[in-house]
Order: sequence, then structure tokens, then C-alpha cells
Amino acid sequence: MTVDAIHATNVRKVYQTRRWAGWRHRGADGGGRVDDGAVEALSGVSMTIRPGERVGLLGRNGAGKTTFLKIASTLLTPTSGEVLVFGHDVDRDADRVRPLIAVVPQEGKPFFHLTPREQVYTYLRARGFDRTTAKQRTDEALAQMGIEEVADRLSVTLSGGQRQRTMVATVIATEAPLLFLDEPTIGMDPFARRAVWECLRRLTRKGSTILLTTHYLDEAEALAERLYIVDRGRVLVEGTADALKHRVGGTLRVSVPGGDAVRALFAPFGNCVADAEAVHVITEPAQLNEIMDLALRHGLHATVGPVTLEEAFLRAVGRSIDDEAS
Ligand SMILES: Nc1ncnc2c1ncn2[C@@H]1O[C@H](COP(=O)(O)OP(=O)(O)OP(=O)(O)O)[C@@H](O)[C@H]1O
Ligand SMILES: [Mg+2]
Repeated sequence: MTVDAIHATNVRKVYQTRRWAGWRHRGADGGGRVDDGAVEALSGVSMTIRPGERVGLLGRNGAGKTTFLKIASTLLTPTSGEVLVFGHDVDRDADRVRPLIAVVPQEGKPFFHLTPREQVYTYLRARGFDRTTAKQRTDEALAQMGIEEVADRLSVTLSGGQRQRTMVATVIATEAPLLFLDEPTIGMDPFARRAVWECLRRLTRKGSTILLTTHYLDEAEALAERLYIVDRGRVLVEGTADALKHRVGGTLRVSVPGGDAVRALFAPFGNCVADAEAVHVITEPAQLNEIMDLALRHGLHATVGPVTLEEAFLRAVGRSIDDEAS
């Protein structure tokens, strides 16, 4: 039986923080008033990731994605619960976990006073690779990320996207068994994003496991074989992109111009939502002919498109927000 790359059980994280009450509450001593507060960033997250999988973590700002990644990559201790990485507890056995992982942190920056080539090479040497392997891996990673031309300039002189490419190059060069990437393609152009996707796919073909976060849902769909949507520190849903779409009622969207009358007409075929111009019916391919026939009979012009992961995400998280409010 192979051991899971990540096995997380009921992970909770409560940050203790100080709340700044603002300048209006300055006391006689001139200091701002602070209150102690607690932020529950994770409220019992469980997940299992098998070796070789590419898994995406999706969620609104503040949902708890980075907190989970930090805990699973030994940078934070959980308040309670447990994360095992290849069978090692990230809290008690961090020293065993660290050689098995590499991390692209959210908003990480390369060392300004190193060149990308020096950064990647130095990192590999620090991880124990010999000179020849480190040099070869460095050259490969710089080429894969398309930054050879700027590889010998100080990172401080690089553009934002070039810096981000350097961060990703540093981590993919390790070919570590488990890679954590927190919004790895932020600020990258579409070519660079595709280069990252290709690198990550190649790494998983060679056996690495990948857990990434992204707000680009096209990226999540193109790259991740399985997704977890988290909201307010909880896993809302888990599954493939297609499975998440099925949960909102189907994989096809038929849009028909019109208002309430049109909505009533198409309601039997699936989940209907209306906006200012059209009624959108979320449905499955098996029902398409019948819907198109109905539209034709009523002289309505219907257009068909795939349901996007973005729609599935908005519905899943939207429903949870509604549930919380009611
Ligand atoms: N060091 C900290 N101290 C106090 N609260 C924190 C700390 N770090 C994060 N939080 C809070 O914990 C919650 C989860 O934050 P986290 O960074 O994990 O979210 P995220 O899903 O990564 O969001 P984003 O998409 O914006 O990166 C948020 O409410 C955030 O304000
Ligand atoms: Mg984050």
C-alpha cells in the first residue's frame, strides 16, 4: 500500500492577533488601543492527496488556502488536527518532511542581490545536490521557464513576471516529491503560465505530487486533476472540475434571450438563472435536443456553451454564503 503524499485530518488554525482600534481611540498616553482577538482561519480541514496527483485549492480571499499550505509545508503549527506528509507528521517530524517538499510562497520574491542562475543553483546546493547536478538542473529550469536571457542579471532589475518565473524555476529544479505552489503564476503572461503548467505536468509524470492554489479557474481546470473548494476555513466541495460542474446541475449552458416567461418554459430542463438579457439553463448533453426544439418552436434563438469552472465555483461558494446568511 502506498503512503499518501498528504493526509490531513481535522486541521484547525486559530491565529491570535491584536486588533487596532484606530486613531480615534488614542488614550491619554497617546497610544492606540489594541484588543486581543482570534481569527479562526481553518475550522477542521481534511484532505487526502495521493502521490503523483496535481491538486488545486480554490477559495475566496481569506478562505484559508495559504494557512493550510503553510501548515502542510511545516511553516506553521496547527492549533489542532494532524497533517502527515508521506507518513511524517509535519509538526512533530518537520525535519523529515522538509527534504521531501519545496514551496513557492504567496508573494515570494527571489533574492534581489542574486541573479536567477545564482538563486536556483545556490538553492539546489543548499539542498545537498552535487555541483554537476545542480548546474544541469539550474540550466534546465531556467530554460523551461524561459528566463535564460535574464538569468545573469541581478533579480532586482527583473520585471515582476520574470521574478515570479525565477521563483517557480527555483522550486521545479528541486524535483522534490511534493511541491506546494501558492498562486504560482500570478503576474505571468499567458506563455509563461503555459510553461509552468507544462513543467508541473512533466514533474508529476516523473512522480512528484503537486498542491497549488490559484484564482485563475482556467488554470485550475487545465492543471489540477482534482480540486478542493475551501470557504471560511472549511472544505466546501471536492472533486474533478467536471464533478464540480455536475454539482451545479450540468456541463452545458443554454442561453435564451427573455425574462420570466422564458424562464418558466425552460425550468423543467435544469437549473435556470436569469440576468438582464437572458435566461441560462444549466443542463446535460442528453437534454440538449429537446431544449433546442422547444426554443425553435417558440422562435427563440438559443446559444449553447460549456459551463465554466468559474460558474461552478461562484454557485458553490455563493450557496454557502446564502446558507450562512439565512
Ligand atoms: N498571521 C496572521 N494573523 C492573523 N490572522 C491571519 C494571519 N494570516 C492569515 N490570517 C487570517 O486568516 C484567514 C485566512 O488567511 P489565508 O492567508 O490563509 O487566506 P487565503 O485563502 O490564502 O487568501 P488569499 O486568496 O487572499 O491569499 C484570513 O481571515 C486572514 O486574515
Ligand atoms: Mg493566500
